[in-house]
Amino acid sequence: MGSSETLAGLQELLHGYTVEVLRCRPTDLVEFAVQHFTRVLEKQRNEQGSTKSAKKGVTFDAKEEEDEEEQDVTVGESFVCAEAYNPDEDEEEDEEPRVVHPKTDEQRRRLQDSCRDILLFKSLDDEQFSEVLEAMFEVLVKPQEHIIDQGDDGDNFYVIEKGVYEIFVKTDGADVCVGKYDNKGSFGELALMYNTPRAATIMAAMDGALWGLDRATFHRLIVKNNAKKRRTYEAFIESVPLLASLELPERMKIVDVLGARVYKDGERVISQGEKADCFYMVESGEVRITIKNKQDSVEVEVARCTRGEYFGELALVTNKPRAASVYAVGATKCLVIDVQAFERLLGPCMDIMKRNISQYEDQLVALLGSRAKQ
Ligand code: CMP
Repeated sequence: MGSSETLAGLQELLHGYTVEVLRCRPTDLVEFAVQHFTRVLEKQRNEQGSTKSAKKGVTFDAKEEEDEEEQDVTVGESFVCAEAYNPDEDEEEDEEPRVVHPKTDEQRRRLQDSCRDILLFKSLDDEQFSEVLEAMFEVLVKPQEHIIDQGDDGDNFYVIEKGVYEIFVKTDGADVCVGKYDNKGSFGELALMYNTPRAATIMAAMDGALWGLDRATFHRLIVKNNAKKRRTYEAFIESVPLLASLELPERMKIVDVLGARVYKDGERVISQGEKADCFYMVESGEVRITIKNKQDSVEVEVARCTRGEYFGELALVTNKPRAASVYAVGATKCLVIDVQAFERLLGPCMDIMKRNISQYEDQLVALLGSRAKQ
C-alpha cells in the first residue's frame, strides 16, 4: 500500500471515529476509541467471513425468493443461515384459533396510541391491524428487567408504550450497549422473522410498559405480509443507488422492516429542530428540503429529492436534532426505516452517506452564503 492510500485510509478511520464521538459523546475518549476500533476490526473480519460464506452458500435472487428456499441472513454481527418464510406453506397457521386478549377501553386507547407509528404494522390492512391489536397483551416491566436475552429463542414481538430500553450486543464475550429505545418503537422482530436466536439483549432502564404480540400471530399477519412487501418493493430497492453496494439478502432485510408513509402536497415530513428517529427514501413524488435561519426565520429551499433518493440520515449519523425541514411536493410516498434498523442494516452504506454529508456544508455556503452557518 502506498503512503497516499495509507493516508486516505487513516483519514477515513478518523472520520468514522469522529462521527461516533459526536453521536455518543463519551466521557473517556481513549476507552471509546478502543471500543470503536475493536468494533471496526470485528466488522471487517465479519464482512470478510460473510462474503466467504455468501459465496459458498446460497446465492439469493428474485427467482429463488419466489421458491422460498433457505437464505443467508446476517443478524447483528453474527452470520447465520435462516429459514425463509413460505406463505404458501402457511395454511395450517390460518386454521389456528385467533389469539384474543380482552382489553378495557382505556387499555385499547393506550395500545392504539403506541402502535400508531409502528412501521411493521404500516402494510397491514384494517382487518389485519385490528387482529393484531386484539392479540396484543400488556407487559409491565421493572428497571434492570431483561425483556429479551441474546441467544434465546424468539417468543414475542414488543411495542413500546413507555420507558427506556437499552440494547446490548455481545462483542468478544462482553455485553456492549449499542443503543436504546426512548419511549417509542418496537423490538424483537428479527428472531420471529428469520427463525434465528435473539440477536440482542433488551433491558429496561426504568419502569416501563410494553405490548407483546405472540409468535404465531406475528407470523400469520406480519411475516406473511412481508412476502408481499418483498414483491412490491424489491424492484424499487434494487434501483436505489445508495444500496447498490449491499448484497441482495441485505437489501431484502431492509424491505422486511420498512414502512410506507404517504404525504399530501405541501405536507411536512420532517420538522427542523425535532428529535430524529427515522430514515427516508422517496419511492414516488418529490420532497423539498428547507432550512430556517435564526435571524429572520425564513425557510430557504436547499435541495430536492426524487424517486430513489434518500434524506433524514444526517441527524441519525450525528445524533443531533433535525437540521432542516422536509415537505412533500405533490402526492409523495416515502419508505421509512427506524434508527435501530438504519444502524443495523445501513452500516455498509455509512461511508457513502458520510461523504455526502461532508458536501452539505459546501452546498449550503454556495446557496446561502455566510447565512448557512447562522
Ligand atoms: P430479536 O433478535 O428478535 O431480539 C432482539 C432485538 O433487538 C432484535 O430482534 C431487534 O429488534 C433489536 N435490536 C436493536 N438493535 C439491534 C442490533 N444492533 N442488533 C441486533 N438486534 C437489535
